Amino acid sequence: MTTLITNIGSLLTNDPELGTLTNAAIVLEGDRVAWVGSDLSAPAADERVDAEGRAVIPGFVDSHSHLVFAGDRTAEFNARMSGKAYTAGGIRTTVAATRAASDEQLDANIRRYFDEMLRQGTTTVEVKSGYGLTVADEARALRIAAAHTQETTYLGAHVVAPEFADAPAAYVELVTGEMLDACAPHARYVDVFCERGAFDGDQARAILTAGVARGLTPRVHANQLTQGPGVQLAVELGAASADHCTHLSDEDVKALADAHATTVATLLPGAEFSTRAVYPDARRLIDAGATVALSTDCNPGSSFTSSMPFCIAVAVRDMGMTPDEAVVAATLGGARALRRTDVGHLAPGARADLAMLDAPSHVHLAYRPGVPLVSAVWQGGARVC
Ligand code: NIG
Ligand code: FE
Repeated sequence: MTTLITNIGSLLTNDPELGTLTNAAIVLEGDRVAWVGSDLSAPAADERVDAEGRAVIPGFVDSHSHLVFAGDRTAEFNARMSGKAYTAGGIRTTVAATRAASDEQLDANIRRYFDEMLRQGTTTVEVKSGYGLTVADEARALRIAAAHTQETTYLGAHVVAPEFADAPAAYVELVTGEMLDACAPHARYVDVFCERGAFDGDQARAILTAGVARGLTPRVHANQLTQGPGVQLAVELGAASADHCTHLSDEDVKALADAHATTVATLLPGAEFSTRAVYPDARRLIDAGATVALSTDCNPGSSFTSSMPFCIAVAVRDMGMTPDEAVVAATLGGARALRRTDVGHLAPGARADLAMLDAPSHVHLAYRPGVPLVSAVWQGGARVC
């Protein structure tokens, strides 16, 4: 089965040779892109879709989310919007609600957010555990997530479990031992919240190296609230990404620039928006030579948005990114953060994951903030929205 999408006003391929094509067409065959080029030379196909001048982009790659949760933290958000500061303490509220939820409730919740994301053009989503914090609850979270995505991350080290409040070393032992044994079969990555009030540099190193020894790829919640050791640790361990990167020293920026081929700086503007914090400086990172990704961080506490277009608009408005850079970071950047070469771009051979916009170019994602511009989505070659 082949599908020809013709009359594309602007086609962002993220391919160094193809670039952004105008008056373009694309052919999908099975789950792959088979052909990309000028509308005038488009081959015939089984099915033909007229884009009527709309833009087409690769599906968004959301490389950082926390979607296995139950409950709601509206009260905490309300308090924050009246001036209260964000602390990671609220994580425990969601841990209690998640532990109390049935498998079916958690599965229905994740399904709901995946549908919401798909309608907004996101075709690849990474999902973390981290609201269970017991062996059984962390393993269950990853089992449920793995039914929806291959991009699963073990985050038993989100915060110290309440039962271990007085014995953090014993919790680290659990996270690197029995909990890791139960979770590793369902996870691709290992993550740790390296932050004051969560896990320090030594604890984070122990957790990540234990995960690596079990075949997991490391990534780090780094330098979100303070200028800690997370970024340096991520680079030192060859992590796939250092996520947040809000409070960076010059040395941190240089480390990320030097590691641009290995460790992606993943920026999560939804978190700063929803916690009324200062945004990360994307310009500083890009100018230094770092590879940057944008992602939602979707979770009920610090960033309850599932919208990549929203993150793009904020990144352009307040983080020094151009519209082109922001859309590339939300597609190709996310793919790099997940070490995926099949998504995030639209050259022949790539996965046929793409979004059509009710706009003549992808710049409108930032130019028309808050407007639902995604008008059609293909995932693995099948039209899903
Ligand atoms: O990435 N910073 C740690 N974890 C999440 C927040 C989780 C929560 O507040 O529930 C984050 O922002
Ligand atoms: Fe996060």
